[in-house]
This record gives sequence, structure tokens and C-alpha cells, in this order.
Amino acid sequence: MSKSGAAIPHLGFPAIDADHQAFYALLEKVGEAGDDFPVLFAELLAATEKHFSYENSLMDRYGLGARDEHQAEHRRLLNEFTQINRRVARGLHPLGRAYVRERLPQWFVQHLGGLDSALVADLKQRQIQE
Ligand SMILES: [Fe+2]
Ligand SMILES: [Fe+2]
Repeated sequence: MSKSGAAIPHLGFPAIDADHQAFYALLEKVGEAGDDFPVLFAELLAATEKHFSYENSLMDRYGLGARDEHQAEHRRLLNEFTQINRRVARGLHPLGRAYVRERLPQWFVQHLGGLDSALVADLKQRQIQE
């Protein structure tokens, strides 16, 4: 992951791309956090929840393909992320730091390249803009 964010795939739907950029920027900040790690970790979770809700609402509104699979993947990640957040709040910072360093970037690269790319392709094909 580059500092400039240049490695983040740009999918071509501005509202989604802006969220992804913001997510990666916050992810970097959490990775470098000191005492504020638990607060920033919870902030990253909240931003992720908000972004998933936005994508879910697009899929609901427009009846886009792979909706069930995509929303289920969002739910699985959020369940896991929420559980880790509870442990971080109880002081298990190394667990949270490993999650931010390894699991989250890996999950997001895969998710952006798969289901999010398919979602944006569908939005573009149907000329949906917002
Ligand atoms: Fe997604
Ligand atoms: Fe996304």
C-alpha cells in the first residue's frame, strides 16, 4: 500500500471511489496510531459500516446483480470487524494492529477487485449516476 494511495484501484463511480480513498487514508492513519489506536480503530469500523450501507442501498434501489452475495460479504466482514473492535476496546491492541496490517488490506483488495468492480460495472452499464 503506497503512501500516496496510488495503488488503490479506481473503479469509476465517484462516490464509491471517494469512500475507498478515504478508507485507505484512514487505514494508514490507524496503522501509524499511538495511544489513539482504539479510537481510530473504532472510527475505521464506523466508516466501513457507512460505506457498506451506501453500497447496499445502491444494490437495493437498483436491484443490481450479485446483491445477496455482496451484502452477505459485507455482513461477514462487519461481524468480524465488530468482534475485533470489542477486543481492542478491552485493551487487546496487538490483535487489532495485526488486523489492520494484514487482514483488512487483503480483504479490501480482494473485495474491490471482485464484488465492488462488478457492482460499478453494473452501475455504469445501466448508466446510473449520483
Ligand atoms: Fe462492497
Ligand atoms: Fe466498497
